Amino acid sequence: MKDAHGLELSTDSAASVAAWDHLIDGFLRYRADLPQRLAALLAAAPELGLAHSVQGYIMMLGYKAALLPAARAAAAAARRLPATEREQRHAEALAAWIDDDLDRAIALWEAILRQHPHDVLAVRLAHFVNFWLGRPQDMLASIEHVIPSYGAGVPGYATVLACRCFANEECGNYAAAEPDGRRAIEIDPANMWAAHAVAHVMEMQGRRQEGIAWVTALAPNWEGGSNLQHHLWWHCALFHLENGDHDTVLELYDQRFRNLASPLTVAAPDAYIDVQNAASMLFRLVRLGVAVGRRWDELADLAEGRIGDTQSAFTLPHWMMALSAAGRTEAAQKMLDGMRATSNRSGTTAAIVATYALPVSDAVRLHGEGRFDEAVDRMLPVIGGMYRLGGSYAQQDVLEQLFLDAANRAGRPDAVRLVTQRVAARRPIPLARHVGWQEAAKLVGG
Ligand SMILES: [Fe+2]
Repeated sequence: MKDAHGLELSTDSAASVAAWDHLIDGFLRYRADLPQRLAALLAAAPELGLAHSVQGYIMMLGYKAALLPAARAAAAAARRLPATEREQRHAEALAAWIDDDLDRAIALWEAILRQHPHDVLAVRLAHFVNFWLGRPQDMLASIEHVIPSYGAGVPGYATVLACRCFANEECGNYAAAEPDGRRAIEIDPANMWAAHAVAHVMEMQGRRQEGIAWVTALAPNWEGGSNLQHHLWWHCALFHLENGDHDTVLELYDQRFRNLASPLTVAAPDAYIDVQNAASMLFRLVRLGVAVGRRWDELADLAEGRIGDTQSAFTLPHWMMALSAAGRTEAAQKMLDGMRATSNRSGTTAAIVATYALPVSDAVRLHGEGRFDEAVDRMLPVIGGMYRLGGSYAQQDVLEQLFLDAANRAGRPDAVRLVTQRVAARRPIPLARHVGWQEAAKLVGG
């Protein structure tokens, strides 16, 4: 039978196909009830190998070591069942991802897309995994390959437009990016990835008021959405931060993106994106002299529970910010030891942890201990390649601010100049207009 995207599925049950379509729709539209949709699919279609592959993918998307056994079990189940070539490639891609061979996983998704450009699951996975590997050019190439097969009325069109918007934004093509994101929102106002991509364009172009209005106007569409909405509110808070409105930033922190009582946060308090949002905003606020109270403590508690878990390389310096700010010296050392253990393994993420996450996280610790000179020395060799940790330029900014702060306090003007020039070259607006960089901007006349 065929699914809603016209792709063949190894099942002869209409109920299985309906459950599959419901799951993929929830995945593409960032629905919070994805676990329920997945459970319904597995109950309806235990014979469908692709159902088990997508279960494994959803585990891997949690970027959490505790989810690996469930992902492995799903991969084994997927491989035992009869499958088409496309379905087999998904099962192999899942296995490669679990084995930390991300280049192979991406190559398999791309191979699927050469034959089946409407496999939006493969589109999104390639997009997402490339993003968390700091490969914006690959994100763009991937989406440009498939987009000629889409158009108005084709299922998944809003999703691919949102992906092309974000890929162009991360490549610095702001003018090309925005219309795709706006078109995706016209098709589906609840498309959070499109809302997010356009928010990034506005962030990079310093369009603060427009950014606040954009997020606020679209937010009523996000009912039932996943915690990507937290990240959208984080972007809104970033616009307010740039306006110097720290009270609103803290209000959004407590109510919208780190509300410990909200059902989404209760369900997954240590979700990596939420931790990145929280830690990076607290770090920026503290640097600006804003009192943040005891907000670091709950993050530090969660960080202690994730020692040894290096699935999400970009989250590691954020965990370290929390441990460092809360004065958890011993736990911070243990977290670094966990990264060292990963460094001895082979694999795509392991190499990134060894080369970038470990020195950057150690620099976070040294900065927290007031050892600014050492923090600069630790981070200096990797500042140029740090984007390989993944995350957007707007998110990487906090690590660059940390380096800047250490360099300033260590009295290292060359290091200040180096990072400031790097950031100024990338920003389409004068650096002096960008919060956290005003003083440094004077040095490079930006
Ligand atoms: Fe973002």
